[in-house]
Amino acid sequence: MNIKWDAEKYTSDFAFVHQYGHHAAELIDAREGCTVLDLGCGNGALSKTLQEKGFLVTGIDASKELLHIAKTNYPEITFIQADAADFSLSHPVDVVFSNAVFHWIDKTHHPAMLQCVNRTLKENGQFVFEFGGYGNNRMIHEALTEAFQQFHYRYQNPFYFPTIGEYSALLEQAGFQVRLAVLFDRMTELKGEHGLKEWIKMFIKSPFSVVKNKAEQEEIIETTVAKLQDSLYRDGKWYADYVRLQMKVIKNDR
Ligand code: BEZ
Repeated sequence: MNIKWDAEKYTSDFAFVHQYGHHAAELIDAREGCTVLDLGCGNGALSKTLQEKGFLVTGIDASKELLHIAKTNYPEITFIQADAADFSLSHPVDVVFSNAVFHWIDKTHHPAMLQCVNRTLKENGQFVFEFGGYGNNRMIHEALTEAFQQFHYRYQNPFYFPTIGEYSALLEQAGFQVRLAVLFDRMTELKGEHGLKEWIKMFIKSPFSVVKNKAEQEEIIETTVAKLQDSLYRDGKWYADYVRLQMKVIKNDR
């Protein structure tokens, strides 16, 4: 996962990403004083929420830009720059938590990431996470596919949105027992009159690398947005058709 984020805009206009993460954090069943790793902590907003619940939190993220914001806003929390599929901590933790991160990690890197998480957890430790599940943003990706085709390009969806069954199998192979798994729709309101356009600009970056001309990139985005006007624009507000996969799993006894 090697993305250069516009960290200020991400923090100001896409705060719903960490705000929705509170629901997943509620699934953690651990006492105050337990150690929690926030994997893919981004700007640290959820690491702070976890700390306020009484946990001893460490945050890991690959993005220098987002970690800069995290360290500035929450200097009392330890943040480490590392890749989610290639990290280790000096001491094992009680809980690994992650919100809205794993869909960014290439499918082929998930087994390595799950091994890192397994090694980082104490025996019977909990791994609680949420990310984009099967069918996530289907309408947006279909509209992008059509718009790219209209301009004679091929849209390659860069995300991994697995089913419960597919991800449970990976987790079991990596030494976890599944305790809870839910796949659900979450139609999500976007900020502002140009909410969908801004969302595409913030999150859909790599597919546009094949379109060298900036003006043409803009035209493809405008075409995509126009295609979605009837389905994702309601009462003056834009929405994104999110589908979330929430899971809670336990590290197996040896
Ligand atoms: C998500 O949180 O599901 C997501 C966000 C941006 C792009 C793709 C997925």
